[in-house]
Amino acid sequence: EKDGYAHFMLKEIHEQPRAIKDTLSGRIAAGDSGVTLKEINIPEEQLREMNKIFITACGTAYHAGLVGKHIIESLARIPVEVDIASEFRYRNPLLDRNSLVIVVSQSGETADTLAALREAKRKGARVLAVTNVVDSSVAREADDVLYTWAGPEIAVASTKAYTTQLVCMYLIGLYLAQQRGALGPGETAEIVAELRKLPGKVSAVLENGSDIENFVRQYSNCGSVFYIGRGLDHAVAMEGSLKLKEISYIHAEAYAAGELKHGTLALIEKDVPVIALATQADLFEKMLSNIKEVKARDAVVVAVAMRGLEEVAKEADQVMYIPRTHQVLAPVLAVIPLQLLAYHMAVARNCDVDQPRNLAKSVTVE
Ligand code: F6R
Repeated sequence: EKDGYAHFMLKEIHEQPRAIKDTLSGRIAAGDSGVTLKEINIPEEQLREMNKIFITACGTAYHAGLVGKHIIESLARIPVEVDIASEFRYRNPLLDRNSLVIVVSQSGETADTLAALREAKRKGARVLAVTNVVDSSVAREADDVLYTWAGPEIAVASTKAYTTQLVCMYLIGLYLAQQRGALGPGETAEIVAELRKLPGKVSAVLENGSDIENFVRQYSNCGSVFYIGRGLDHAVAMEGSLKLKEISYIHAEAYAAGELKHGTLALIEKDVPVIALATQADLFEKMLSNIKEVKARDAVVVAVAMRGLEEVAKEADQVMYIPRTHQVLAPVLAVIPLQLLAYHMAVARNCDVDQPRNLAKSVTVE
């Protein structure tokens, strides 16, 4: 059932091109003119009046929400707040019928996420669920459901669920932009055409795994790893850091790169691995200075950068390149080397990759 892979996690990492393709299937209009989401039936008036979006979820799904905030704000120009579900449900959020609450959950059964959904409905908000399990509690109770078609995810560490959740965020962002006329036809077509190319580009990243194994051989005994990035890259850094912690038990932290000098830089010393995400052209120069900052403390820097931004190779010790794409789509490609890094670290440290200690696949208790 593992199709010849050593672990479910590795199998699921490699299923991502297929999972992304299935999640896009039937949802992109012919001629790349936009998206068609038949499953979302928000009344036109409510779409017009909508003035605030909240995304709420736990763990990896929360990290997908952080990317979702950037996507929806930049494409549809509606303000978005992202909350951890166990915080959202207790903070008396300011919701009304002009709010849209997006809940994200692979299993559709996470107790805090379900409670957040119920709280949102009680306050009169419209609830849209993004989930991987048909007929799950979250799917049944939401007003609208957009399924991720990742297929069953067995490994505790989420991989293909995350990338397909990201795909749903692009679809929702484009959908809202379209309904509200927030994005020109040119940019819509460019993003849609790039979405179509994502499965092939993810496959290309998966074929370039050998650099990672090299790095792992040298650093599998390290005590701590730092992940830094700006904007969308910061959100991806958080997911990379969680993956490493949960399956390899190495202490890891993610920081907005600009925050380093406000405290964390004190922890950067000789040979500390720093994974620096630098996929965003707009923020590239700023990231280069952050890389120089940690290099000056003799950290070992592995950068994840987009083809075309090769200047990073002058500063970093090692670079993992992802293919060129629209910068808003970079998270889907940038997370792949981070998933592989966590996986190979866990294998090198003899950890139980698919069943990490203390964790369960579906957290149905609070
Ligand atoms: C991490 C992981 C967890 C889940 C979280 C939410 O790899 O899998 O952090 O993302 O427990 O689960 P769902 O998405 O089922 O609500």
